[in-house]
Amino acid sequence: MSSLNQYFPTAEDPAMVTERSLSELAKTMTSSRILVIAYAVRERIAAGADVANFTVGDFSPQQFNIPSGLKAAITAAVDRNETYYPPAHGTPELRSALQRHYRDELGLDYPEDAFCVASGARPVLYAAYRCLLDPGEVVVTPAPSWNNNNFCHLVGAKHVVVPTQAEDGFMPTAESLAPHLRDARLLVLCSPMNPAGTMITEAQMRDICDLVLAENKRRNETGERLLYLMYDQVYRMLAFDGREHVTPVSVAPEMAAYTLFTDAISKCFGATGLRVGWIAAPPFIAARVKALMTHMGAWAPRPEQIGTAEFLSQPEAVHAFLTEFRAGIRARLKLLSDAFSSWKAEGLPVDVIPPQGAIYLSVRIDLEGQPGFPDEDSVRSYLLNEAGCAVVPFSAFGDSTNRGWFRFSVGAVSVEDIEACIPRIKAALQSAVS
Ligand SMILES: Cc1ncc(COP(=O)(O)O)c(C=O)c1O
Repeated sequence: MSSLNQYFPTAEDPAMVTERSLSELAKTMTSSRILVIAYAVRERIAAGADVANFTVGDFSPQQFNIPSGLKAAITAAVDRNETYYPPAHGTPELRSALQRHYRDELGLDYPEDAFCVASGARPVLYAAYRCLLDPGEVVVTPAPSWNNNNFCHLVGAKHVVVPTQAEDGFMPTAESLAPHLRDARLLVLCSPMNPAGTMITEAQMRDICDLVLAENKRRNETGERLLYLMYDQVYRMLAFDGREHVTPVSVAPEMAAYTLFTDAISKCFGATGLRVGWIAAPPFIAARVKALMTHMGAWAPRPEQIGTAEFLSQPEAVHAFLTEFRAGIRARLKLLSDAFSSWKAEGLPVDVIPPQGAIYLSVRIDLEGQPGFPDEDSVRSYLLNEAGCAVVPFSAFGDSTNRGWFRFSVGAVSVEDIEACIPRIKAALQSAVS
């Protein structure tokens, strides 16, 4: 049999691949810099290098597993041959389990038709962008933030990036947002936050909600298109040391009219490969997201929906799982955080924000501009080559102002990996400044 590969264009004929074949969108899509860095690190590890991989926002099965109750319910659903199409917006059991879960865990009494289920948070994020925005309309996000540049590109939105500061936990302040909201259609916030691992406070949230409500009050008088707040809370159950997850609707119930929650089991149940997410939104928006899902076919697999509904309906099992899961994540973050705090006290050029939430830690390694470190990438490569420490800079999350800040992600490393890496990082830092 002759290989069909002979009919496909090769790298020698780039015009055939680009100008003569692809859409403008396909030609201009960029790959995630986070994944580019992560794949390069994976290759090094596969080639035998001793590297602590803090790059991926994922879990390794050697470190963290999904809840056993969730796994058993999914397996049982497959065994019962629950393998046909689910409804495009989710099974009724899952939607009512989500309704109860939001009421009991978040104090938010949404109707069932506010929920639309999909295969993870990504499809509902994309669908929300698609359903709210026309080309050229403005989306405001803080920097750093996860993936909003790509969603803006996909829908042709104008992306306005608001810088943040370490003192505010890299959350935007109402003051920094205010000048940009007059023209905006969508503001996107995330807490606990990827990449910083920080959490928005109730006061920060209240100030931002006041702005959104005032702006929509004005628009309701003029008849202009409304301003929505998308609140990505995929890490909401991963909060440490008594910190409380706050939501726009819990601080100001009237924000329900303007808020879209995006959520998933991916991060909080260590279940990134299972693909169950959802949106909770004003029902007329959830209905449009459902319509889009019908065409995209991006629904969550039926057995996983059944398993999620059964697991969420056992709050004690959920809490028991989370207690252990959170402890494992916190222990890893704390080891790193304590090490960087002590080096800061010793005068090394580092800074760190103690763990607050998610699976991430914000660390500053202030070497850029020193001899031998002409740019940020030289610092990242130095850590990788000299300390076997693989991290992602905030610039990969669209942040051009918080130089020297890196994300450490701990879902794929063991406590022992971290303990082994810490002296290597310290030695590399000492040698960089000596
Ligand atoms: C803030 C945030 N939202 C959404 C997602 C995507 O979640 P999912 O895997 O459910 O699509 C991620 C994944 O890294 C994330 O960090």
